[in-house]
Amino acid sequence: MDHDTQVELLDELLGLRKQGAAYLAESVSFSKAERYISDAQFAAERDAIFLKQPFLLAHSSELPEEGSFLKRDCFGIPILLTRDRDGAVHAFYNVCRHRGARLVEAESGCKHRFTCPYHAWTWDNTGRLIAAPHREQGFPDLDFDAYGLKRVTCLEKAGWIWCQIGEAASNDTIETSLAPLQADLDWLDFASYEVHAEDEKLWRCNWKIVVEGGLEAYHFRVAHAKTIGALFHDNLSTYRMFGNHIRSILARVMVDQLVEVPRKHWRIRDHANVLYNLFPNSAWLVQSDHVVLIQFFPVGVDETRIRCVTLRPSQPEPLTEKQQSYWDKNHALTVKTLEEDFELGVQIQSGMALGVNEQLTFGRFEGALDKFNAAVDAALKQD
Ligand code: FES
Ligand SMILES: [Fe+2]
Repeated sequence: MDHDTQVELLDELLGLRKQGAAYLAESVSFSKAERYISDAQFAAERDAIFLKQPFLLAHSSELPEEGSFLKRDCFGIPILLTRDRDGAVHAFYNVCRHRGARLVEAESGCKHRFTCPYHAWTWDNTGRLIAAPHREQGFPDLDFDAYGLKRVTCLEKAGWIWCQIGEAASNDTIETSLAPLQADLDWLDFASYEVHAEDEKLWRCNWKIVVEGGLEAYHFRVAHAKTIGALFHDNLSTYRMFGNHIRSILARVMVDQLVEVPRKHWRIRDHANVLYNLFPNSAWLVQSDHVVLIQFFPVGVDETRIRCVTLRPSQPEPLTEKQQSYWDKNHALTVKTLEEDFELGVQIQSGMALGVNEQLTFGRFEGALDKFNAAVDAALKQD
């Protein structure tokens, strides 16, 4: 984000603050309860969105060196990520090509070859089959090239690893989905960060409820009263769409100090949280000195596995004790705050199942929730 845009957004927030107003949609909008509790809706979303559209899978620092690998389960698809000798990243179905056993069980590590635990067929980390025991006798005509690991489309870009499942997947499609964010990706220089800590849990709620929870500042002073509420102005935020992605700017109370500061010194990260909702299921919470990645992996219509990752600027030397404790505390506060949101998500889901509300109601300052749901609906229609 260039400096002019930062100034424009901060001016917008200060203007709204002065008027005592929030950034408003044209009208109140609604989202039917059925969208969060119907198995048919969930199956349609899985096919049209998760098994079709590009998504963010990992940070580049999670595959830190040649030979690094990482196992992930995404929407029921077991994925193996590897970094080869040339530094290139590959994504594969974590499924043996002989009789289909799970190839890699370890969560992560460093390995240049992977041997299936069933009959020891072995692949290198570029997905090439390199050994099949008793091949001459059992598989005399085995074409090794035809038995490479099955690939998932994957692209390393801007410090992140993006994937896309399905026949229509391509690096071009991933690039196209990220193109509207290019200026922000350049600004944020995510490759200069590394994972400090992560936390993952299963929550009993639909994935859209927890995504929606990150799209407004209406709840900050209330739901986060015991954690971060006092750091933010009440219901003061604005947002922009970047294709299906949403960038929200959430004003901290310290934004008021800017009226005393010449505009050339304004830096948006110091006075507001910048929150990117990356369609469909990830978010970056950009704060003044670090970034939080939140990933929502739907498991079922009312179950979502949520991963919260704190990324701090990487440094060549080991962390001092003081730095370690600073980032540990930071991560703990982030998780505590986000869990306030996720616990509400679980309550909403159980209330929804009771049929009390036939629909959710989004106020005019909750317009980003409607935009997100419109993107979901549009993806379902495209299918
Ligand atoms: S199932 Fe993997 S080697 Fe047989
Ligand atoms: Fe929240």
